[in-house]
Amino acid sequence: MSTSSSSAAEIDLKKAFLKKFFIFFIVFLISFSIFFLNHKEKNNYIIETLEHNGSVEEGDALFKVNCVGCHGITARGLVGPDLHSITQRLNDKEIIKQVTGGLTPPMPSFEIDPVNMSNLLKYLHSLE
Ligand code: HEC
Repeated sequence: MSTSSSSAAEIDLKKAFLKKFFIFFIVFLISFSIFFLNHKEKNNYIIETLEHNGSVEEGDALFKVNCVGCHGITARGLVGPDLHSITQRLNDKEIIKQVTGGLTPPMPSFEIDPVNMSNLLKYLHSLE
């Protein structure tokens, strides 16, 4: 009849609960670490891209190889939208995310190194 001593069944229940809680905590920790590292990597990519002063000509060449199929040879739009004055609607960070993120299918995500990404950005800035 004492309240301080628990029955064996109660102890088992508590152990089971602690076990589940522990597993949940570990899973949460791992997910959070992956999210954090991924975020940091993307941030570093953006910072590095913005440190370069890209070349319009190189960007133009990259655009002709990778983007004209959908955005048109003069970037006036085809399957994808017209990209003239895109830099007035989206900032550099948003454009980088658009190109590397693959967030708006059917536009694929592109794996471009920071130097070439900055070339592409420079080209997009050159479009009136
Ligand atoms: C397979 C077709 C396809 C290819 C290839 C493609 N895009 Fe796109 N792009 C799209 C579509 C479709 C959209 C519109 C997505 C939406 O907003 O839903 C888009 C949107 C964009 C936008 C945002 C436009 C806006 O008005 O918000 C930018 C910037 C862009 N693309 C740049 C590029 C660049 C740079 C490349 C080459 C590296 C490229 N795209 C290659 C199809 C493509």
